[in-house]
Amino acid sequence: MASSIVRTKRKRKLCLFDHSVSSDSKRSKPNGGGGATSTNLDTSIDLINNRWTGRPYSERYYEILEKRRTLPVWKYKEKFLQELKGTQCLVLVGETGSGKTTQIPQFVLEAVAENVYPELTRSKRKMMIACTQPRRVAAMSVSRRVAEEMDVVIGEEVGYSIRFEECTSGKTMLKYLTDGMLLREAMADPLFERYNVIILDEAHERTLATDLLFGILKEVLKVRADLKLVVMSATLEAKKFRDYFNGAPLIEVPGRLYPVEIMYTQQPERDYVEAAIRTVAQILTCEAPGDVLVFLTGGEEIEDACLKINREINKINYQCEIGPVKVMPLYSTLPSDMQQKVFDQIPERKIVVSTNIAETSLTIDGVVYVVDPGFSKQKVYNPRAHVESLLVSPISKASARQRSGRAGRTQPGKCFRLYTQKSFHNDLEQETYPEILRSNLANTVLTMKKLGVEDLSHYDFMDPPAPETMMDALEVLYFLGALDEDGNLTMVGEIMSEFPLDPQMSKMLIVSPQYNCSNEILSISAMLSVPTPFIRPRDEVQEADEAKAEFAHIDGDHLTLLNVYHAYKQHNEDPSWCYDNYLSHKALKAADNVRQQLMRIMARLNLKLCSTDLSSPDYYINIRKALLAGYFRQVAHLQRSGQYLTRKEKQVVHLHPSNSLDHKPEFVIYNEYVLTSRSFIRTVTQISGEWLVEYNI
Ligand code: CDP
Ligand code: MG
Repeated sequence: MASSIVRTKRKRKLCLFDHSVSSDSKRSKPNGGGGATSTNLDTSIDLINNRWTGRPYSERYYEILEKRRTLPVWKYKEKFLQELKGTQCLVLVGETGSGKTTQIPQFVLEAVAENVYPELTRSKRKMMIACTQPRRVAAMSVSRRVAEEMDVVIGEEVGYSIRFEECTSGKTMLKYLTDGMLLREAMADPLFERYNVIILDEAHERTLATDLLFGILKEVLKVRADLKLVVMSATLEAKKFRDYFNGAPLIEVPGRLYPVEIMYTQQPERDYVEAAIRTVAQILTCEAPGDVLVFLTGGEEIEDACLKINREINKINYQCEIGPVKVMPLYSTLPSDMQQKVFDQIPERKIVVSTNIAETSLTIDGVVYVVDPGFSKQKVYNPRAHVESLLVSPISKASARQRSGRAGRTQPGKCFRLYTQKSFHNDLEQETYPEILRSNLANTVLTMKKLGVEDLSHYDFMDPPAPETMMDALEVLYFLGALDEDGNLTMVGEIMSEFPLDPQMSKMLIVSPQYNCSNEILSISAMLSVPTPFIRPRDEVQEADEAKAEFAHIDGDHLTLLNVYHAYKQHNEDPSWCYDNYLSHKALKAADNVRQQLMRIMARLNLKLCSTDLSSPDYYINIRKALLAGYFRQVAHLQRSGQYLTRKEKQVVHLHPSNSLDHKPEFVIYNEYVLTSRSFIRTVTQISGEWLVEYNI
């Protein structure tokens, strides 16, 4: 266990990214591009008192209402509500930013409250509408926005639900939730009895969970005449959705898109990040005012690019005056208050550097320039190698079009594609493949089994996955003891599906009492479920590494994480202790919260909470054995060459440099396979070859 650490305090840096804030250089507000005006009133929502809370509306409510009315979907409100009268399922397609996610659920809510669809309210069920989002960030940020639009407190009438975080109450009528959460709810409530209307949003993203929900809801609609389904999508795959849902009516909301001039590079770029930074500098010096949106691939890359862009801006400011600029990152693991900041109207010129979350899920107003290097991080699965990894991969043409569209929302814009026109035409795929075709399906199959799907091979998938991927998933579940030889869910499988975790981790938790270490495995599982707690600022790498070394356990990273968690608790969860030790308080707090939730599930399932005595030589051995019982498929073996070979797939891999081992053990288990310049295994812990024999694996 880590000893208490006394270190000199780090200097707290203020305003690292803040640049020359000038309060009097206000930009003019975007004009909203015409559309309906406030004379075009819908009286039902112009009452003095809020229909949901009975309180008088705030000024802010009317302010936002003005803006909402200019959104393209408002012109289609009547048509939409009317169409929904005559059908159980409806497909709505509209350009990103047209108001689908924020407005349509509110329209539906009002209509259901006014009993426009008597078939939905015949039973005495409480009114409840669900709207799914593929991304956690979107669910959180959009629900906050909608709560503001409805002038209610988030978590009351409008709420959200994402894994490990529930922000709803008994009053909640409209709930934004990730598609994964709705899928989990289906396990306990297979007919979605608590909802009158379900809205599957961002259907074009074709995430695994949304694809599964398509199939499940299609069946549920047959038996629940008092349920309606709305499928919303940004791109024009609409016909496919419509065909799948037996010719459901389709409403198309034309976008309010201004022309966007597309520029390509003459030559391919060698370093897309560097090219993106250069392009931003060019825009700032050569182009007319307007916010800039840059697409990069991940948090670390984005933070790094933000620093470099700020440096460029300083350089440019020496030469010429470009006015106040603010560089803002946007990615999923960014704290939510920082995420929210990109929506603020500020006097400075905004440069938002984002993952493809800003491609369709979130709309930032005022963007005139888009910088598109042509890459995003995508899940790739190779069933033969049993390897799923996140890879920086070229985007599809459909994505590239979406990205450029972000430049023309409020006025004519420009999109700088950092690849050649030839490459756009010849190298990019038409569409991004649905996730179901590029994922490990172990969790999916477990979910389906739990939902009672007997025959997986004839399941009505919109795009059926490859049979070998399905077989692979069945095999993993069989070895984990979740399925029997006939492919039926076992008792262990039933218990596994109660955890909102991947099957390996659930298995590890379930067996941990047998190894007398469930308390520790809970802590490790919680730590693995949140972003890394280690902070490594670029200009303090050495100090950060030294701080991390204080927690290092020579047998491996899982145990190091355990040390960190224990030390955090020993120091009473003190944020300044975290800061001084280069640890993210936010991540540790999240881990603590996750741990409590997992602990409650363990208690409900009668799984014993226990620990081996800390002074026993078996303390760490037991923990490592429990790790292996879950992750036995993720074992790598040291070769004479000094490289590792994964045991099952025989892939050459290297220990990730972040590991805390003091030597190269003969066998390790790993949590993650990362492919960058080389293949790495990350979060590794030493195990003994004898245990493998013991388990016969
Ligand atoms: O779903 P869709 O892309 O069609 O649009 P939306 O997400 O409903 O966004 C409609 C408008 O709401 C955007 O143009 C933003 O101005 C605004 N919005 C916001 O201000 N803050 C948010 N967190 C989300 C949306
Ligand atoms: Mg949307």
